[in-house]
Order: sequence, then structure tokens, then C-alpha cells
Amino acid sequence: MASDPLPQHLHEYLDSLVPPRPPEMQAMEAYAMQHDFPIIGPASGYFCYQIARMIGARRVFELGSGYGYSTAWFAKAVQENGGGEVHHVVWDEQLSQMARGHLGVLGFGDLLTYHVGEAVQALRAATGPFDLIFNDIDKHGYPDSLPVIAEKLRPGGALIIDNMIWHGAIFDDSDHSASTQGVREFTRLITSDPGWIASLVPLRDGMFLAYKKIEGDTAQ
Ligand SMILES: C[S@@+](CC[C@H](N)C(=O)[O-])C[C@H]1O[C@@H](n2cnc3c(N)ncnc32)[C@H](O)[C@@H]1O
Repeated sequence: MASDPLPQHLHEYLDSLVPPRPPEMQAMEAYAMQHDFPIIGPASGYFCYQIARMIGARRVFELGSGYGYSTAWFAKAVQENGGGEVHHVVWDEQLSQMARGHLGVLGFGDLLTYHVGEAVQALRAATGPFDLIFNDIDKHGYPDSLPVIAEKLRPGGALIIDNMIWHGAIFDDSDHSASTQGVREFTRLITSDPGWIASLVPLRDGMFLAYKKIEGDTAQ
């Protein structure tokens, strides 16, 4: 049985360091609490925003966007970087509609492209390259998403993958579920591929932050 390896007071402390959010984002956070919907939350969202700001991201593609909470953090960064585009992808029409409402109220509507469908297929069909790709789809799909992400991300771009601790399930040797195996296999793939510099950041449920090396970069 998986259990969160990080203490609750640490999560609360990390969230407390994030600057106040606008009322619409606070409402999105409250909805997640009330409906037990798995958003990335304030600390991980702010981390995504920070990375997008640091690399000056103008083109962001998100896989598994829910009702747009993580999208809002990327859109805020892209807007502050001078504008560009953020792709929101989810396979539920209702979640896509909710996202359109929230992101419109937040003033990000002009930046957004919405896809309703399977996220890896949507990325495959999209015109790259992207500066930043964020992956939060069903975990069994993680390994197969990596070659498509690698093709669409620009050299020097950033990949962020959520749930890489998977509530501690990765440490349970008796857990061979498709989702846990997907997280383990993705971890093996990205940490053994010389094309990436990747670190697991233990924020909330664990995020891999990976840098796609530029051609000719043979650093180990
Ligand atoms: C964990 S929630 C994402 C929450 C969002 N990233 C956030 O933090 O606000 C993942 C969402 O993506 C959807 N999803 C999962 N796998 C998907 C896939 N392969 N293609 C499209 N949508 C997917 C789920 O139904 C769910 O709504």
C-alpha cells in the first residue's frame, strides 16, 4: 500500500512560500480540494512557472491539463515572457470547457490553444518545436510519450513530468500496476539517455525536470 514519503507539514510549508494567487486560481485550488481532483498545487505550479520564466518560454505544450490549473501557471509565465502560445490538452470535453472559463477570466485566453483528445497524439500532430513540455497524463502512458516529447522539444528546452514519486508506490516492490511500472520505466529511460540532464525534484508528488541537450553536447 503506497503512502506519501514526505510529511504533510513539509507540503504545507512549501505551499506557504508561494506568493498569493488571484481569486480565480484560489477558486481552482478550492475546487480540487472539494472534488479530490489531482492538480499540481501551488508549490509545483510555482516551480513550473519559475522554470518557464527562467528559460523565457514562449511555446509551451501541456499533456493532461485537467481544468487548467497547471496551464494557468504556464500561461502566466508565457504572458510575462512577452507572449506566445500554450497548448491545453485533455480528453474530457467538460474539463476543456471549465479550463476555457477559468483561463479566460485570468486573462490568458489569447495565448491558449485547446485540444480535446489523447494528449500524446495531439503532441505528435502539433507543429514543434516547443520551449517547454509538461507531462501529467495517465502514468502508464509515460514511457511511450518520451520519444514524441524528445522530437517536439527544442534542443535546450525543458521537460517537466509530474508524479514521479507516485505517492511512494515506486518504493513498493510488490506494486506491479501499469501506472507504477510506467513511472519506474520512464525514470529508467530518462536517466539512462545521454540526450537529457534530468533531476527528480521531490516537490509534492515528485517532478522530473529534464534539460534536452543540444547537439554535440557530450557532457556526462
Ligand atoms: C492529473 S490531471 C491533470 C491536472 C493538471 N495538469 C493540473 O495540475 O491542473 C490529468 C488530466 O488529464 C487527463 N488525461 C490523462 N491521460 C490523458 C491522455 N493520455 N490524454 C488526454 N488527457 C489525459 C485526465 O483525465 C485528467 O483530467
